[in-house]
Amino acid sequence: MESTFGRKFKVTIFGGSHEPEIGVRIEGLPGEAMDFDEERLQQFLDLRAPGNGPFATKRKEPDRFIVTDRALGPDGTGSLRAVIKNTDQRSGDYKKLADVPRPGHADFPARYRYGSDLNMAGGGPFSGRMTAPLCIAGGIALQALEKKGIRIGAHLLSVGSASDRAFDPLRPEIDEITGLVPGELAVLEEAAREKMASEIMNAKDEGDSIGAVIEVAALGLPVGKGGAMYDGVESILSPIYFGIPAVKAVEFGAGARVASMRGSENNDAYYMEGGEVAARTNNAGGLLGGITTGMPLIARLSFKPTPSISKVQESVNLKEMRAEQLKIEGRHDPCVAVRAVPAVVAATAAGLMDVLI
Ligand SMILES: Cc1cc2nc3c(=O)[nH]c(=O)nc-3n(C[C@H](O)[C@H](O)[C@H](O)COP(=O)(O)O)c2cc1C
Repeated sequence: MESTFGRKFKVTIFGGSHEPEIGVRIEGLPGEAMDFDEERLQQFLDLRAPGNGPFATKRKEPDRFIVTDRALGPDGTGSLRAVIKNTDQRSGDYKKLADVPRPGHADFPARYRYGSDLNMAGGGPFSGRMTAPLCIAGGIALQALEKKGIRIGAHLLSVGSASDRAFDPLRPEIDEITGLVPGELAVLEEAAREKMASEIMNAKDEGDSIGAVIEVAALGLPVGKGGAMYDGVESILSPIYFGIPAVKAVEFGAGARVASMRGSENNDAYYMEGGEVAARTNNAGGLLGGITTGMPLIARLSFKPTPSISKVQESVNLKEMRAEQLKIEGRHDPCVAVRAVPAVVAATAAGLMDVLI
């Protein structure tokens, strides 16, 4: 199975969690973006790896990417295909789930949509593992954007009831994010890390999982990119954000808070600074009418708690059409957002690449 994002910068992700490989085809890469630093890309991919920390699954996912095709077209744009071999599958853990769907996962509707032949082991094409090829495309886009002075950073804004300091919307502190190593919690405040860690461990100890919010910021975007309606930056970024499994809400700028604000409070007043137009606040999150304002782009993505929990749950046996209690075995992250931080950076980079080309 494959799925494509983008109009000019096209990203097609293929494969499934327990297929021999997963991968990505990228089309419309600007010529200069073909010349990316492979070691840096691998380091970026490694951030998604489980690490040795207590918050992640014990699955071993080395995620070494291999470029299998690379070509520069006559129009100066490039295409590239890269794969990651799946090496640590334990399909046995998923045998029972073929007939007894996990509440909260794609198992039940996917069986009706694609039939029982679709290999849903490990979540199949709905697996969080599909964010690894996204990180290849996004990691390449990230390097290309950096050359244009655009930088992107993301952190865990909240996990359960534990919160980190939110970015300053005028000057998001992306250089102050710590914990950008495999298996660690990416945050601005050390105190938040401890509180988040205990939220995750408490959920895990109870055989449960927990939801979280990731906040992302992009700095250095020029004013006047994007367009009206479906050409708007929100319209372009939202599908790639919602393509990340477990994302249930996306907000830009003040987001859902605008519903309880007055116009006088929400509007970002303009003023002149050194001959340039600046804004006093950034409730717009860097976007008005879908067009970049030149202020930092700020978005927040809400992740649901991991569907696969080890508590006994009520489900049904679809073969025998009867009730069945489900006890999920296997290796699952208690909080999927922890490893989704690089995926959110990657999605932002790939989306912005599509906007800026
Ligand atoms: C990085 C990442 C890792 C994930 N790991 C798991 C996991 O171990 N177990 C699980 O049940 N779901 C996991 N998920 C979430 C499911 O893939 C997702 O909830 C499922 O496909 C249903 O899609 P939906 O939640 O978007 O509706 C993960 C998601 C991400 C982004």
